[in-house]
Amino acid sequence: MSDNQSFFPSQPLLITVDGPAGAGKTSVSKILAQRLSYTYVDTGALYRGVAIGAKRAGIQADDDAGLAGFCKKLHLCFEQKADKTLLLMNGEDITSKIREPEISMLASAVSANPVVRKFLLNLQKKMGEKKETVFEGRDMGTVVFPDADIKFFLDASIETRAARRYEELKEQTCQSPADVKTDMKRRDTNDSTRDLAPLKPADDSILINSTHLSLEAVIEKIMECIKTAFG
Ligand code: DC
Repeated sequence: MSDNQSFFPSQPLLITVDGPAGAGKTSVSKILAQRLSYTYVDTGALYRGVAIGAKRAGIQADDDAGLAGFCKKLHLCFEQKADKTLLLMNGEDITSKIREPEISMLASAVSANPVVRKFLLNLQKKMGEKKETVFEGRDMGTVVFPDADIKFFLDASIETRAARRYEELKEQTCQSPADVKTDMKRRDTNDSTRDLAPLKPADDSILINSTHLSLEAVIEKIMECIKTAFG
């Protein structure tokens, strides 16, 4: 066991982990939160929740008025149940439903809508009030928490990211590795070229390219940075 595994920062931190799909943000952020005994918040899940709700209500991603009315009645929250974190939409458990490929694309589409971004900005800010949280997303360090205590931006080559995502999805989907890569490229373009809160590293974020790094090596690097800044 390395020293970093029993390390606790000198003050409560708000940590952000941004990056494109498949860069390893989720695994890294979950383990990081576990090691620090912090809360983990998957903000992509919130966009996916809005996407499912809007789809069921027949509201298109560019329908501002429709989405505004929908968001007013929408209650999204995470609930810890044993070792699982559930996402509840107006009380319904939608945790597994949000992972379908169609919902990934729809989430990317609704996430470009200003009404949705404003609704989730407020919700995320509330979730961050108590600090001691690891927020994973696309604009955590740039827009939602520009004053975060420490910011990371995780990236990897498109080949590596698509291969990782295919491994995760292959039991639940009939998508081929090529389909997964095509979807991922489309989402990358959507997420990084939209006008509002596009995917990009904050100027003061620490960049980590995980193409040739194991999960444990990424965690070690992150813990090392936290230790240097807050040891
Ligand atoms: O991380 P994910 O793949 O679950 O995210 C789904 C979509 O949500 C992603 O394509 C872009 C959007 N998203 C966003 O715009 N901002 C965030 N902070 C998180 C996700």
